[in-house]
Amino acid sequence: MNTLDAIKARHSTRGFSDRQLSDADLEAILFAGGQAAVGGADFTSLKLYAVQDPQLLKDIDEASARTRPGFHPLYGAPTLVVLASKESILKNIEYTNAGCVIQNMMVAAADLGIDSVYLWMAMYGINGEPELVKRLGFPEGYTCLGTVALGYEAKPFPKLKAEEQRIEATIIR
Ligand SMILES: Cc1cc2nc3c(=O)[nH]c(=O)nc-3n(C[C@H](O)[C@H](O)[C@H](O)COP(=O)(O)O)c2cc1C
Repeated sequence: MNTLDAIKARHSTRGFSDRQLSDADLEAILFAGGQAAVGGADFTSLKLYAVQDPQLLKDIDEASARTRPGFHPLYGAPTLVVLASKESILKNIEYTNAGCVIQNMMVAAADLGIDSVYLWMAMYGINGEPELVKRLGFPEGYTCLGTVALGYEAKPFPKLKAEEQRIEATIIR
């Protein structure tokens, strides 16, 4: 798949099957995350944790749904990549770095035929429970700034995203 096709194919998945991705695909996606633009090239301010432990996934799912009992914010995904960051050398750049890394991983996943969804809710769940942070193994000073669920859609996506420009864009010549 070429890059523009992968960008178009990426869409948010909110119902995953049990099928796990291969180790090779997971490694490729994590590598893509590491190839992202990062402000000040401050790569050591970021860490990625790929969670496939069913009990830890269940506990993150439950912690993330505290305000909505019965809801499953991880949508049954078999893999959750958690991005942690400490304060960067460039003030306030951390969430922007997180977005670049996670977008790279989602586009790489789409290229490999793997479905994904960026999950903000799981970040609240993780950061709200020190026990989860401990089990994930963040070093001192790191907090979760975003997560991405990966896997295969339980039901095929009805149609690819509309081809229209979704964000108003102006060209000034
Ligand atoms: C920073 C960020 C956080 C998001 N958090 C969630 C989330 O917690 N749960 C969810 O279902 N979707 C989440 N999304 C997905 C958006 O709702 C989705 O990207 C948007 O509706 C556009 O749809 P598309 O991804 O299929 O193009 C998030 C997206 C971004 C960029």
